[in-house]
Amino acid sequence: MINGNRVEKLRIGVLASGGGTNLQSIIDACAAGKIHGRIVRVLCNNPDAGALQRAEKAGLSHCCINHRDFERREDFDQAVVGQLQQDGVELVVLAGFMRIIGKAFLDAFPGRIMNIHPALLPSFPGLHVQKKALDYGARFAGCTVHFVDGGVDTGPIIVQAVVPVLDDDTEDSLSARILEQEHRIYPYAIELFAQGQLKIEGRRVKVLSQPDTPSQALINPPIFSSSLS
Ligand code: GAR
Repeated sequence: MINGNRVEKLRIGVLASGGGTNLQSIIDACAAGKIHGRIVRVLCNNPDAGALQRAEKAGLSHCCINHRDFERREDFDQAVVGQLQQDGVELVVLAGFMRIIGKAFLDAFPGRIMNIHPALLPSFPGLHVQKKALDYGARFAGCTVHFVDGGVDTGPIIVQAVVPVLDDDTEDSLSARILEQEHRIYPYAIELFAQGQLKIEGRRVKVLSQPDTPSQALINPPIFSSSLS
């Protein structure tokens, strides 16, 4: 963002409920200059979230707003929005944040809330989705970064990464393969936003100044026989 002659870094607020490995990937990408932004707030709804310790270790402003302290979801949302606005947050990044975002929250940050989901949306929204992909017998799984709208995992898709499902996969091995890609595509999506490269057009997100990539099919299991390929 240009302000006079000064190029300001995007002010990022990260919301997390769990261990915070995605938060860590964003912390590391900011430190390495791969994201032109800085995390100005880490906010957890769970006092035991490992993400709080990661924020502490990285010297980031962090706090817990425990959803259990609120009778109504709207009041919890309002407390979170108030904190993020006080911090001057420009992009809200949900990194394993296991709460639904209400309308007032969405209205406070229109087109400025991102989420990462460990499945290839629109397949497998919701919870325990790596196991669902495995149980379904899908040949590919993956992860999706999307803008958040009023539904559950339904907003416009920004980036996806695909991984194969292997015959001997367990829920843990598949989750680990997907998580590795989450740590690549979330910083990438945030950087595209920071650079002003993302434009939401209906359900589609256009990535400006992105060269057309040749289409390349992924086939799993791979076709080895030259007579079939
Ligand atoms: C990640 O796999 C993320 O995609 C998922 O929670 C995990 C958090 O891990 N999010 C969702 O399922 C949201 N629907 P982390 O705390 O180590 O980043």
